[in-house]
Amino acid sequence: MSAIHVAILGFGTVGKGVYEIIRTNQERLTSLFGKEVKIVGVLVKNIEKHADYDKKLFITDNFEEIISLPNLDVVIEAMVGVEPSYTYLKQAIEKRCHAITANKFMFAHHGPELLELAKNFGTTVGYEATVGGGIPIIQTLNKLLNINQVFKIEGILNGTTNFILTKMREEGLSFTDALALAQQLGYAEADPTNDVEGFDAFYKMMILSQVCFGEQPDWKNVTRVGITEVTPEKIQQYEKENVRIKHIASLTKTDEGIEAVLKPVVVPPTDPLYHIEGVENAISVYGHIVGRICLSGPGAGMFPTASAIIEDLVHAYAKSPAIVTSA
Ligand code: NDP
Ligand code: HSE
Repeated sequence: MSAIHVAILGFGTVGKGVYEIIRTNQERLTSLFGKEVKIVGVLVKNIEKHADYDKKLFITDNFEEIISLPNLDVVIEAMVGVEPSYTYLKQAIEKRCHAITANKFMFAHHGPELLELAKNFGTTVGYEATVGGGIPIIQTLNKLLNINQVFKIEGILNGTTNFILTKMREEGLSFTDALALAQQLGYAEADPTNDVEGFDAFYKMMILSQVCFGEQPDWKNVTRVGITEVTPEKIQQYEKENVRIKHIASLTKTDEGIEAVLKPVVVPPTDPLYHIEGVENAISVYGHIVGRICLSGPGAGMFPTASAIIEDLVHAYAKSPAIVTSA
């Protein structure tokens, strides 16, 4: 039986999640694609760290060995930072591979270029995992935008910060202990400053803005306040007042442009975001016909993120006329 040949760039929380989902759902995937899905190579930075992983798996620290693999169909990128991820995905697309990424830092900088390149090479770029972990927000937006104009998006876009705020409130953990737990669970970025100072949510906002409004606000004009000033004492005080503090991102299209604000906000129990706890994210989208819809679910972690990546894989082949899929 022929196969879909997949390479994974980055083999940390997300890359390993993808590998495990493909390994343990082979029958389901084969019946979906009419072909087996084979992981033909994995790229890492430090090969020694992975010496004891599945001996049958080809693991390398040399991208040339990955990109020159014969019959490569799909490159899934789950590395850290803008480069070399962008360069590697460009090369993958130029080889007519489908590209899928979880890397919101890279995609906020270069998403439009990658999408344009893929169009020119007749391939696809999936980026569902860049925003909202396992929540299918990108596919939902693309469907909504067929008929709706979206004028506002608001929500909790970072699982680590929501997890920290929840643990400080529910269990009285210190900021440092709550962050350490989020790191152990694979929610936090390699450099967690990106979570707690709001850079991660900022880049997710830019991706959402690009999808919904076809452009990003001037990055200099975006308000970005992290959660490092939120103390357990403040949280307990709010609890007594029956309100909660949430790290909320909002993007609003106005006549003057796009207003983008990310900051801790105090919300009452009547606000749906009050009830979003732990690693969950929630995203409200306002369309001029549909009104407000809200999606919520796990915003980070190995399997929710890998689930979004596999959704992209399915989507790539559903779009590609060369491959017949059956539901
Ligand atoms: P990890 O830090 O767990 O893993 C990163 C992986 O990338 C490691 O295997 C590392 O190699 C590899 N890597 C880093 N730089 C290079 C390089 N230059 N060349 C080759 N390999 C490299 O990160 P995560 O899995 O948590 O996240 C990966 C990406 O997914 C990030 O962009 C993150 O923002 C995004 N993401 C993460 C989510 C999560 O819940 N964790 C959710 C959604 C998106 P080595 O193992 O050798 O160090
Ligand atoms: N560090 C990110 C978060 C991972 O906590 O939301 C998911 O993008």
